[in-house]
Amino acid sequence: MGVAEVLTLTAIADDPLVLTHRLALEGGPEVVFRPLTRADAERLAGFLEGLSPESRRFSTHDGHDLAAAGRLCDAIARYDKLRLVLEEAPAGRIVGLLEFSLDLHPADLVRYQEAGIGLATTDCRFGPTLADDYQGKGVGTQIFPLIADVARRLGRKRIILWGGVLADNPRAIRYYEKNGFRPVRSFIGAGGTRSLDMLLDLDPLPEQ
Ligand SMILES: CC(C)(COP(=O)(O)OP(=O)(O)OC[C@H]1O[C@@H](n2cnc3c(N)ncnc32)[C@H](O)[C@@H]1OP(=O)(O)O)[C@@H](O)C(=O)NCCC(=O)NCCS
Repeated sequence: MGVAEVLTLTAIADDPLVLTHRLALEGGPEVVFRPLTRADAERLAGFLEGLSPESRRFSTHDGHDLAAAGRLCDAIARYDKLRLVLEEAPAGRIVGLLEFSLDLHPADLVRYQEAGIGLATTDCRFGPTLADDYQGKGVGTQIFPLIADVARRLGRKRIILWGGVLADNPRAIRYYEKNGFRPVRSFIGAGGTRSLDMLLDLDPLPEQ
């Protein structure tokens, strides 16, 4: 019995199959949960372009076109980010983008410190976005065990929300709560919007 090996972003880019799962959605199509790859730019652009104004407001991205998608693909294994997609099988349409950052933003450190929580290198940031026609159907909850497993395999012990969740996004707040996140505190974010920090303590990976 030994402690499971921690995955690196380079190892994942070299062998995306280590985090690839095929699953049947309840009452829906089969999907593949897998790391974003460099070949995904056009389909990722299709996903970003298809997001409604409300989804774009709830989940912010640096653009919604092919150039923005290309930047996300170019960033694979180059910085501190791990992005995974949910893809319809066999059609190949991308219907979800699940983003991790292994780096903590100084503003996060300050906010959590003010709430009495010291963030550490074993924490990560997470933000999910599903295509509009996939939202509110339990999909995010169905894939959450896979999301938590990714964080654990990256050697992380806690997940915080990437930039918090907007206070006027009750579905996302409920989603995080039902998947084990606890509210930390609310804050006024960029543009004067009220947001909520939430944190999840992960169970450790079982020994192999
Ligand atoms: C947030 C998101 C990933 C959640 O995934 P999902 O598959 O839609 O979530 P689920 O269906 O698994 O769970 C949603 C829960 O919220 C509930 N809910 C839906 N609308 C709600 C509302 N207006 N008020 C309160 N609860 C609501 C659902 O009933 C469900 O809870 P329940 O199972 O206890 O009934 C997805 O909706 C999404 O991508 N939204 C747009 C982008 C976004 O907001 N990202 C998060 C940024 S912080």
